[in-house]
Amino acid sequence: MNEALNAGLKKAAIATAERHIFLCMGPDCCAPADAEIVWEYIKRRVRETSLRAMRTKAQCLRICTGGPWLVVYPEGTWYGGVTSDRFEQILQQHLIGGTPVAEWITVTNCLGCRAT
Ligand code: FES
Repeated sequence: MNEALNAGLKKAAIATAERHIFLCMGPDCCAPADAEIVWEYIKRRVRETSLRAMRTKAQCLRICTGGPWLVVYPEGTWYGGVTSDRFEQILQQHLIGGTPVAEWITVTNCLGCRAT
């Protein structure tokens, strides 16, 4: 593996991640400027808390209303209307504490959790 690829894998924290969170940046479910504010907050708080999570900006999660949408895997928890304040509660209660914030969940689909 080359050095750049190794650096990229390390930066993405793939080997140590326990979760992967996605935030839709709009433009149809929310104003991109509002999503950008939430994204900057997420980046800062994930770093400050040393949360073992990958984070990814999504351009559209195909719901296209009621955003910004935040999806948490592996649980498959979909939160709509996420603000920085709401993310802080999701961070404390769900991502750190392990208990999803039930009142803000629109749908849950834990990929790979169903028996086949
Ligand atoms: S633009 Fe956010 S879900 Fe489509």
